[in-house]
Amino acid sequence: MGRIVAVTNLKGGIGKTTTVVNVGAGLALKGARVLLVDVDAQGNLALALGLLPRRTLYGALVDGARASDCVTPARPNLDLLAADESLLSAQPTLARRPDWSRALEQVLRPIKRDYDFIFVDCGGSMTVLNVNALIAASDVMVPTTVEHLSMKGMEKLFKQVAGLKNSVGTIRIIVPTMFDPRLKQSTALLEQLQATYGHLVAPPIRVNVRLSESSAAGRTIYEFDRRSRGALDYAQLVERLSTIWGFNPEGAVSPIEAVQQQPATPVQNGHPPAPAPDARVPHPPTAEAVTAVPKQTHATDAHDQPVVTGAGNVLQLTCPHCGRALRRATVAGYRVAYCDHCKYKQQELASDRRR
Ligand SMILES: Nc1ncnc2c1ncn2[C@@H]1O[C@H](COP(=O)(O)OP(=O)(O)OP(=O)(O)O)[C@@H](O)[C@H]1O
Ligand SMILES: [Mg+2]
Repeated sequence: MGRIVAVTNLKGGIGKTTTVVNVGAGLALKGARVLLVDVDAQGNLALALGLLPRRTLYGALVDGARASDCVTPARPNLDLLAADESLLSAQPTLARRPDWSRALEQVLRPIKRDYDFIFVDCGGSMTVLNVNALIAASDVMVPTTVEHLSMKGMEKLFKQVAGLKNSVGTIRIIVPTMFDPRLKQSTALLEQLQATYGHLVAPPIRVNVRLSESSAAGRTIYEFDRRSRGALDYAQLVERLSTIWGFNPEGAVSPIEAVQQQPATPVQNGHPPAPAPDARVPHPPTAEAVTAVPKQTHATDAHDQPVVTGAGNVLQLTCPHCGRALRRATVAGYRVAYCDHCKYKQQELASDRRR
């Protein structure tokens, strides 16, 4: 039966969506069946996964559609119940219902059995839908930046969770995000956080630009740069959560190992993935159920017949745009594969240093 985890903090921009994507994708790579639910009208989860869902949570919440019909497949084992700006108009409609705070719980009930974990990505304030997420949740995960004001905000969040759930026992983990170990103040505040909340505090996710680049490219961090600090930190968090939640199926490997074992991105419908010049400005949805928007920004985006290089990465043989053979060179410490025709380029560090 799916464990529903609300990922929440009253503060915006502190890594909630990044955590939902990379914890959810990490558990899916370990073999868990995972659903990500976006209750934030910004709709960032779909963007961060490179998807343009045709149906969203609005359909299930307001139009009475079946939740299973509104789910978008995102990756193997990973589904998305997406949001978009229509959720803004859903909130006043919901608020008029006598059972308004249980609307999300009712939507998820019929599909709960289909998943091991359902992560609900909350917005950065106590909206009607965030209250719904907390009511539906069996567990609460709290990402927080290691800053004075964020930590003050946590006290308020604990009070609100206590008010809604009659206990703060559902808060299972606090995830320090964007931690910069070079700053004395960050280290001091992390120690303070650990002293206050003890075993609830997970090892921090360090600040890493590859995490924001991966969201912008619509890829999980394991797909985008599995050697980055961000990938390592999130993979460790996934291991910790697997222990807390007793999810250790036989033969399960860490998300990073799982990515390494995966074949290159498959060719879809017999065609190479379409180029996606700008992940933040998706094309309008088509009549098709859903359009995945694969990104071609990194060496691990290879499809077709990959070339395995000395660093263990892959560079593909053909251009994903025009299908011509890519030329290859080593320039300034990077292995580069490029297309003479349409200027497509991918590169990887020739050395295997962690970024
Ligand atoms: N560890 C990190 N290092 C560097 N950048 C990060 C890290 N975590 C998240 N980011 C970036 O910080 C920004 C905010 O992160 P994110 O969208 O996950 O926050 P959020 O709490 O979901 O925000 P909102 O409240 O607006 O929904 C994004 O650009 C994201 O890519
Ligand atoms: Mg968010």
